[in-house]
Amino acid sequence: MKVLVTGGTGYIGSHTAVELLRAGYDVEVLDNLVNSKESTLDNIEKITHIKPKFYKVDLRNYDETLRVFAETNFDAVIHFAGLKAVGESVEKPLEYYENNIGGTINLLRVMDETRVGKLIFSSSATVYGDQGAKAYDEKMTTGVKITNPYGWTKAMIEQIIRDYAKANPEFSATILRYFNPIGADKSGLLGEDPNGIPNNLLPIITKVYRGELSELTIFGDDYPTDDGSCKRDFIHVTDLALGHLAALEKMHPGVRTYNLGSGVATSVFEVVKMFNEETGEELPIKIGKRRAGDLAEFYANPSLAEKELEWKTKLTVRDAIKDTLNYLKNLE
Ligand code: UD1
Repeated sequence: MKVLVTGGTGYIGSHTAVELLRAGYDVEVLDNLVNSKESTLDNIEKITHIKPKFYKVDLRNYDETLRVFAETNFDAVIHFAGLKAVGESVEKPLEYYENNIGGTINLLRVMDETRVGKLIFSSSATVYGDQGAKAYDEKMTTGVKITNPYGWTKAMIEQIIRDYAKANPEFSATILRYFNPIGADKSGLLGEDPNGIPNNLLPIITKVYRGELSELTIFGDDYPTDDGSCKRDFIHVTDLALGHLAALEKMHPGVRTYNLGSGVATSVFEVVKMFNEETGEELPIKIGKRRAGDLAEFYANPSLAEKELEWKTKLTVRDAIKDTLNYLKNLE
């Protein structure tokens, strides 16, 4: 089976490409390299002994995208390519809408033109917004109180996919809503290495650990949780990647949507504590104000994916921290 992975040199895309190759799929990668490096393909090769064919293409370029599909008859596309920095999306909304939505529309147009009928889309649990719940399931409404354009692009793309599928009964799609991906491939050769100042907890922790940032600010210790810090459903990126394989193997006509999360919430303080236990050092922290838009507790009800995809997480937050530290060793 020939699979095109858009955004395949990025964090989640590269881990998924590795798992697809390990499972024997024929993988090709498309990426515009705006937030990733071509050398990631060498690391994919080191792990799997296969170097996927690579296209440096921006999905907003219809003709170049069509050329990719003219070269190979893909059976399916896994679509990760997109901008993902929440804060930046607030400052540059048009860039986010143009990139994420424009790119996806072109991709669908090209898939339509070349009759490629299977799509897996990288969505986010952020589409649920704030509904005053703790555990979120797929039946809940989306597009409620989303606080940033990045989140809106995910909710809007989901709708575009559903509408396109309605008009094209031979097309099928699986939408995967990720909770908080962390960690790195066991090999230490792939991981999360964002340009500039990162937005998410684990990449910030690793920058502090390496001395690139002076301290971690905990955004609030007065939430109504056991220890006062926020709780999140952290999912190891390898488990997440395997969720895409399960989705690919179990595609059905029409559109299906699944949460990919562990169902377990871990607090920010707990993450820091585990990180310190693994490094044997004390991460410098300070308690700051609550961050706007943060929810006290947010985790997946992952039972639908477990039932229909026969997938569930196997790795823990501690595994993810260990694998992240192993990856950092290789960056030095
Ligand atoms: C964020 C995004 C979400 C995106 C997800 C990707 C928002 C509202 N949501 O989720 O759209 O899909 O990242 O993983 O931005 N924290 C600190 N100090 C820091 C950084 C984070 O205390 O310096 C805390 C936050 O308050 C939060 C937790 O760590 O409680 C996780 O934060 P983060 O990694 O940014 O993820 P989310 O906010 O859950």
